[in-house]
Amino acid sequence: MLNIRIEKTANPKPIPGPENPLTFGTIFTDHMFIMDYEEGKGWIDPRIVPYGPLELMPSAMVFHYGQEMFEGLKAYKADDGRVLLFRPDCNIKRANDTNERICIPTIPEEDFMQALNEIVKIDQAWIPTKPGTSLYIRPFIIATDPFLGVRPSNTYKFIIILSPVGAYYPEGLNPVKIWIEDEYVRAVRGGLGEAKAGANYVASLKAQVKAHDAGYSQVLWLDGVERKYIEEVGAMNIFFKINGTVVTPMLNGSILPGVTRRSCIELCKQWGYPVEERRISAEELLKAALDGSLEEVWGSGTAAVISPVGHLREGDTVVQIKDGGIGELSQKLYDTITGIQLGRIEGPKGWVVEVK
Ligand code: COI
Repeated sequence: MLNIRIEKTANPKPIPGPENPLTFGTIFTDHMFIMDYEEGKGWIDPRIVPYGPLELMPSAMVFHYGQEMFEGLKAYKADDGRVLLFRPDCNIKRANDTNERICIPTIPEEDFMQALNEIVKIDQAWIPTKPGTSLYIRPFIIATDPFLGVRPSNTYKFIIILSPVGAYYPEGLNPVKIWIEDEYVRAVRGGLGEAKAGANYVASLKAQVKAHDAGYSQVLWLDGVERKYIEEVGAMNIFFKINGTVVTPMLNGSILPGVTRRSCIELCKQWGYPVEERRISAEELLKAALDGSLEEVWGSGTAAVISPVGHLREGDTVVQIKDGGIGELSQKLYDTITGIQLGRIEGPKGWVVEVK
């Protein structure tokens, strides 16, 4: 059990009201959680302090070799006032899997949970309640040794910041346009792909800029070995409904094991859909789009929740998915997952955890 020191801000900021059109990740709450790691001492000095700048040496290892991990989850306010987290145990487990992969010391699960609980409790007045909004929680760890050699750091900071957010994509629930990338790759076999490390996201930027310049919201990545098989979108996992079957790329080490991905699979199975986690090539996908068997495409992610895809492009081939609108199953998943997150629908046991 952590003994968390609390220093409340002397200058609380105005909390955005319901009239404020929230976007994603631009506003931060009054406080943040910090805990340090020192070799030989472990995780020490857990504290909640006013949100503000960090003091780090320019030589801190995170600036040079990118030893950093992050997570993303959300808090919601239920109609009865309860504050709910969605499957935080999955994020905590994944955080420690990432830590293992990039040589960061793991955090005891119950300490991580306590830190989430306490920081959200302190800033719970910041949880927005308009439909489509939530409090995004961003835990992350950075390597802080002042050292220019390449090795794992001996010191770290674990920080949790909070941001009231609206939709991740400006399109909201309107279908996004996705670019299938055939030049750059995001991850390779044996690489970092399944870890939630900043390094994966920097690897994605070049292609993202290229796609944006061409009018596309996101990049759909192909595997780094054969450059044939669909992996993920970078900010989301991807799903297809083909002839009534739900198909999603199987976890192969280079795909992020998304919490919303897992929730979609579990819900679709519960509703009786055949679900296949397997390799699916871009060729198979485009063929299904052209012969009409591709019924729906959606992305899943914490930030994006469910984001319908209306339009795909690979090279010179551009396909519109059905009429370019949101599909029935995508809408049902969105309504069910957000309903569970808000405590309006009873989800499977353990999916929502109340902040107390
Ligand atoms: C999330 O969905 O929480 C993520 O971490 C994706 C990020 C690119 C916003």
